[in-house]
Amino acid sequence: MKTIQWSSNGKVRLIDQTRLPEAEIYLELDDYRQVAAAIKEMQVRGAPAIGVAAAYGVALGVLKLDTSHKNELVERLQEIGREIVATRPTAVNLSWAVERMLRVAKRQDTVPQIKEALLAEAQRMEAEDEEVNRRLGRYGASLIEDGSTILTHCNAGALATVAYGTALGIIRAAWEEGKRFQVYAAETRPRLQGMRLTAWELVREGIPVTIIADTMVGHFLRRGHIRCAIVGADRIAANGDVANKIGTYNIAVLAKENDIPFYVAAPTSTVDLDTPHGDLIPIEERPHQEVTHIGGLRIAPEGAKVANPAFDVTPHRYVTAIVTEGGIIRAPYQEGLRQVVGAALPFRGGG
Ligand code: MRU
Repeated sequence: MKTIQWSSNGKVRLIDQTRLPEAEIYLELDDYRQVAAAIKEMQVRGAPAIGVAAAYGVALGVLKLDTSHKNELVERLQEIGREIVATRPTAVNLSWAVERMLRVAKRQDTVPQIKEALLAEAQRMEAEDEEVNRRLGRYGASLIEDGSTILTHCNAGALATVAYGTALGIIRAAWEEGKRFQVYAAETRPRLQGMRLTAWELVREGIPVTIIADTMVGHFLRRGHIRCAIVGADRIAANGDVANKIGTYNIAVLAKENDIPFYVAAPTSTVDLDTPHGDLIPIEERPHQEVTHIGGLRIAPEGAKVANPAFDVTPHRYVTAIVTEGGIIRAPYQEGLRQVVGAALPFRGGG
């Protein structure tokens, strides 16, 4: 299964994640505004997946432009890019993808060349994503103990990427190596990505999974049979602070308190060396109905205020290691992150 791909009829095809696990429905989008809306509504979600969606959004938007002037096209590309980036502010993969597309456009001479090169670049990003996750997964598999129990949060699986996943990529790779273990998936209120999506993926894969409510995390970490926690990331600051799904910080602190390793899995496209530390990462505030309603039904009393930050920041001192496609990085993170990003640049559209 591919979460997102270019289809032969010139459309972006993606699985509608708001419908899982009840229904497996694919959307076909041929307008960049539809792509932006799908990102905002979380029909496509997860940092690497929305990065690739953004690239296709830019390509779709530019392919439809009716101009023969390069400068006009590049200006319009930037506007389309800004619209897409504004949909979800926390994951840096959106601006990473848009900037990469812009660099490609600027390198071409003519409008037809730009259009061709942008589509090719988005397709390259789609293909790269799976390769990168498989490499990351192989590095991370060494951290998994045979016979252990692993805790994960949200969904950093195939659904959050093009294929294979990051945190779940490590879990898949370890399973493919023949290790046997079980996974605890925290349900991840309010959007329930852990219960709806991670559990769905693992059941399909035949990997034993137990769903727990987020409030049970401390209990299970203290009882001692969880051997490590692995999560994804939406943005990693230059010092190793990690923005990820709300509730990640709770897990990291409780893991440290109980001497349990806390691992973060992320491609280098999620590392933001321009943001010095985690407090500077913008945190998306999502609609309050996500908290007050379940399945369209209001469960909260009228009159109460509601907060709904979609992400939190885990300071790097709680992170045992960061697993990237360039290898496993441990503290101090600054230098290690700089090295893996530098090494990845020529392969991932840098310069
Ligand atoms: O709001 P979401 O579902 O897009 O949040 C996703 C996460 O927090 C993931 O852990 C992160 O994007 C990494 S996905 C490989």
